[in-house]
Amino acid sequence: MEGGILAKYDFLTLDDVETSGKRVFLRVDINVPLDPSTHEILDDTRIRAVCPTLEELKGARVVLGSHQSRPGKDDFTSLEPHTKLLERYCSQQVRIVDDVLGPQARQEISKVRPGEVLVLDNLRFCAEENIDDKPEKLAKTHLVKRLSPLFEVYVNDAFATAHRSQPSIVGLSEVLPSAAGRLMEKEVGAVSTLLLEPKRPCVYVLGGSKVEDKVPVMEHILSRDKADRILLGGVPAKLFLRALDRKVTFDEREVSGYESFLETARNLVGKYRDRIVVPVDLAFEEKGKRTDRRVDSTLPQEPTLDIGKETVEKYSKVVRGAATVVANGPLGVFETNGFDLGTKSILESMALINGYTVIGGGHLVGLATIHGIEDKFSHVSTAGGAMLSLLAGQTLPGVDALVRAAKRTRGSREESS
Ligand code: 3PG
Ligand code: MG
Repeated sequence: MEGGILAKYDFLTLDDVETSGKRVFLRVDINVPLDPSTHEILDDTRIRAVCPTLEELKGARVVLGSHQSRPGKDDFTSLEPHTKLLERYCSQQVRIVDDVLGPQARQEISKVRPGEVLVLDNLRFCAEENIDDKPEKLAKTHLVKRLSPLFEVYVNDAFATAHRSQPSIVGLSEVLPSAAGRLMEKEVGAVSTLLLEPKRPCVYVLGGSKVEDKVPVMEHILSRDKADRILLGGVPAKLFLRALDRKVTFDEREVSGYESFLETARNLVGKYRDRIVVPVDLAFEEKGKRTDRRVDSTLPQEPTLDIGKETVEKYSKVVRGAATVVANGPLGVFETNGFDLGTKSILESMALINGYTVIGGGHLVGLATIHGIEDKFSHVSTAGGAMLSLLAGQTLPGVDALVRAAKRTRGSREESS
């Protein structure tokens, strides 16, 4: 199918597999922002998002697995605080075992009764889970060999980790009958809507600090004529201002490493100049205060902290006239007082329109939650990188594995009928 985008019938869902009374391994992504010292959960969006699938699996013997951060990071920790919130939000009995695949975990797994949920601790405590590899290699890892015999069904609801080719995302799906959970289904469905037949005008708002994951999205959606306007903020705006040869000077620390994208950016503005929109003004901190300056004036050698007020007006107007709006990445340093204007205004304009609206990436979703408008969007994605990869036309290893598993199941059902 075009650009690796999947219609939802390409993989099995909870409608297609019998889970009642069955031993189900449920892979979720409840990797959340944590206070590095207290490990208090700062945003629980991903934990709440698991509830619909858990609700549907109420008759099953559920063992849930997730990672939290990566080895070496301050927030690489146990899933104990997550387990408490899961129990609270999903009104089910949820307990955790202090193990991933050792004897203690396997013994606890064998004791799970229908209606109970057992959480394995952070899957990345197991070194193998941190390696990206080919599906056939992943199917032979210790994690898969030890855990798969204990389950009858594998359910993947970890859309936000589907861009990783890791044992619990791909390996288990290679060897067990597998289905997508409700969140996975919803997330893939949202991207399909955007890439197949988006209602026009379709507007993208791309900000944040990473240009490496925004430029491929721009190339894909522009070359397939799936976007009418792309409004830029954050570091992507700087890359394209430079590609347009505007005489803007930047704090080099902000834009280091982006030079390798300059040629692609130049090609894109060469072909799609009327669709790529860059700020007309930018905001800086001068003498402790927000100052907005037009990009054609002499700019201070200070970090850019937001799009300027004139740009906010311009962008908001485009958003208000759109039928589809997708936003990923903040337009400025919204954590700093006064510099959340651009990001907040765009989110508010999106929340007001009648069209199809999608926000993704932890920062935007967190800000929408702080302002209490998170339920005003058609779809709030729990993913950052995975959604951008799909929008860039790439396939996701976790979704591919579900598709292969569906083919196996359909093949064996046909044989036995
Ligand atoms: C994420 O938040 O990006 C996902 O949970 C995947 O985690 P990772 O980027 O550490 O693989
Ligand atoms: Mg990540």
